[in-house]
Amino acid sequence: MVSFNLKDIVKPSINEIEKYIPGESLCTNSKEKISKLSSNESPFKIPRKVINKVNSLVLSSNLYPDGDCNQLKNQLVKTFNLNFKNIICGNGSDDVLSVIAQTFSKEGGEVICSEFGFTYYPIIARASGCKVVIAKSDKLKISCDNILKSITKLTRIIFIANPNNPTGTIIFKEELLNFLQNVPKNIIVVLDGAYSEFITDRRYTDGIELINKFPNIVVTRTFSKIFALAGLRLGWAYSNEKIIELLEKVRGPFNVNTLSQNVGTLILKEKDFLRKSIIHNDKWRKILPIEIKKIGLESYESFANFVLIKVNEKKYSKAKILSFLKTKKILVRDLSNYGMKHFFRVSIGSTSDLKKFLKELRNSINTKNA
Ligand SMILES: Cc1ncc(COP(=O)(O)O)c(C=O)c1O
Repeated sequence: MVSFNLKDIVKPSINEIEKYIPGESLCTNSKEKISKLSSNESPFKIPRKVINKVNSLVLSSNLYPDGDCNQLKNQLVKTFNLNFKNIICGNGSDDVLSVIAQTFSKEGGEVICSEFGFTYYPIIARASGCKVVIAKSDKLKISCDNILKSITKLTRIIFIANPNNPTGTIIFKEELLNFLQNVPKNIIVVLDGAYSEFITDRRYTDGIELINKFPNIVVTRTFSKIFALAGLRLGWAYSNEKIIELLEKVRGPFNVNTLSQNVGTLILKEKDFLRKSIIHNDKWRKILPIEIKKIGLESYESFANFVLIKVNEKKYSKAKILSFLKTKKILVRDLSNYGMKHFFRVSIGSTSDLKKFLKELRNSINTKNA
């Protein structure tokens, strides 16, 4: 048998990939309730009437789904007032992001990501053969200036989550416009709006309204957050027709399953569900930082469905706090692998889970545990 090193037969950049670490979930056989506040999921179950309408679809699992997601795209057109030809759907926005990276990268090219950003961007950039360039943040906020300074002749794609995960910070429209005007048009700018539906601030734009002005932007969106379909895997992107045509060629032929297409179509019509989620989120994104500060930890304003927390390690131990919370069956997101050693993130879960979180966070500090 010829022996060879697998490392030598993949693109060199693949050897630099660090596997994605998802928010923790506990596998347990006990009936004990776990408060999973680690992955920015919705605390709400989708309405029963939606489930009742799609139950029988499982019976048609012998057939392939509609590869072009026609029904779903038509509903996106209606809900968000869009053009059909400017939409592509995917198996979660992860899938769409990965298709974008595959389409627009070149081996040896560069992809710019922000420091303290979503850790999947460097993975798909490297998987596509690119070098990852990290633009320093301005404290915790994405720095458009530093991204602009990082652009070289080799730059292919810039990934920006707005609002940003895990910091919860935002880039308002004025700053975004100024930034986009300064990016050369042969560089694709991905504006990842995974959390954009939560935002009610008029100074914000998800970028959809800008696609006619800037031929190089792609806006991505997900059904995993406000639409509460993380388990079904459904996402989409909006861009000019030419970019969408390219992405459509690269994506998997049946990348969105039948159930997801149908549930996605129905949930878009559930305006009350959306309203309820926004109101709940808006309330807790304001309460949490105040309460966390009262407990003695640092916390920050967030525009998304999670809140960032910093532990002053001179006073407390983050590891002890997180393991104390875990003994109480509360899971949050340690951000060490985001280069944020002293930080963790808590999702805006249900009212009962958040009350329990605050109570046990206080206990973790007050007992000798911390
Ligand atoms: C900024 C950002 N983009 C994309 C995603 C991926 O979402 P999806 O479930 O649609 O793949 C996440 C998930 O947490 C995220 O935080």
